Amino acid sequence: MSEIVSLAEKYKDYFKIGAAVNPRSIAKYGDLIKKHFNSLTCENEMKFISVQPERGVFTFDAADTVANFARENGIPMRGHTFVWHGQTPRWIFEDKDSAYEELAKHMETVGGRYADIVYAWDVVNEAANDADGGNIYRERSPWYGLFGESYLKEAFKMAKRILPAGTKLVYNDYNESNPGKRDRIIEMIRRINDEGILVDTVGMQSHWRPGSPSLDMICEAIEKYAAEGLRIHITELDVSMHEWNEAPGTVWDTPERAEEHAKYYGDIFAIFRKYKDHIDSVTLWGVTDGTSWLNGFPVRGRPDKALLFTDDGMPKEAFYRVIDF
Ligand code: G3I
Repeated sequence: MSEIVSLAEKYKDYFKIGAAVNPRSIAKYGDLIKKHFNSLTCENEMKFISVQPERGVFTFDAADTVANFARENGIPMRGHTFVWHGQTPRWIFEDKDSAYEELAKHMETVGGRYADIVYAWDVVNEAANDADGGNIYRERSPWYGLFGESYLKEAFKMAKRILPAGTKLVYNDYNESNPGKRDRIIEMIRRINDEGILVDTVGMQSHWRPGSPSLDMICEAIEKYAAEGLRIHITELDVSMHEWNEAPGTVWDTPERAEEHAKYYGDIFAIFRKYKDHIDSVTLWGVTDGTSWLNGFPVRGRPDKALLFTDDGMPKEAFYRVIDF
């Protein structure tokens, strides 16, 4: 492994290179992670339901395992996430009167515990509507159900008050390069920031597949977000080998698709480099193909090879395209 160039080292003049990790991937791929990544995100372990499944009962073991690994190796972390419709325990939504107070306590406790190591928090995750036309907000979020759109500004105000000064306050979402959704995200952030800047960074999740979004769409999205004065984090990058709505049984693990996959990785990193003045970090959502959420999930039983390393920790062709500059 030693002759293989380090991703983080190769990109040191551009932006941080991150990975989503968990206690299992750290145990299995600790050396690989230390070598290639200089930013870490807990894949699930800092989510609300992971750290406070019951009111007032905090369970930090898994998040601590990751944070301590990061501390021991001097690797800064992104915090993921405080306000989301997913992986959030029901109890917080049961009493509207105490929901904000509980959220503030949660941010204080979790944000405080990792304040030494976390440089950015995904304060709000996935609050924009996916569909064009109509409301810009995800109406089915229980947060929206309780408070309407006001919860967004409230959450960021809280985060600004509670988290250490200088922590990047991120709005994070997927389909972020799709023009309709992109414009809803921008409008949402404008409204949150209308009395002063609260959101300073947009998280482009970047769950992509070869050719989708197109390279033009990615450039346009980066330019539009940057024109709002926002810093950009690529927060959850992966490139699925599967086509959208692929018929079951389709042979997907072909040399042709592997080439498209590798080429797309090369192309998107060239774009990231071009916009390096706006981008602070590029995080891959997993470490090796087998540890990716796309491998067998959410489509039951369907494998995928969406990342840069094989399960033996070997760099794939996509890796070489990423460092080929
Ligand atoms: O913890 C249980 C375990 O006890 C049980 O045995 C196992 C059986 O299925 O499930 C485990 O929980 C799973 C958890 O991942 C940990 O592996 C959940 O079922 C599963 O739903 C959960 O999936 C996560 C998903 O978020 C949930 O929405 C993925 O790992 C995680 O990669 C994914 O990450 C999200 C980002 O947070 C937000 N953006 C999209 C991204 C991809 O979906």
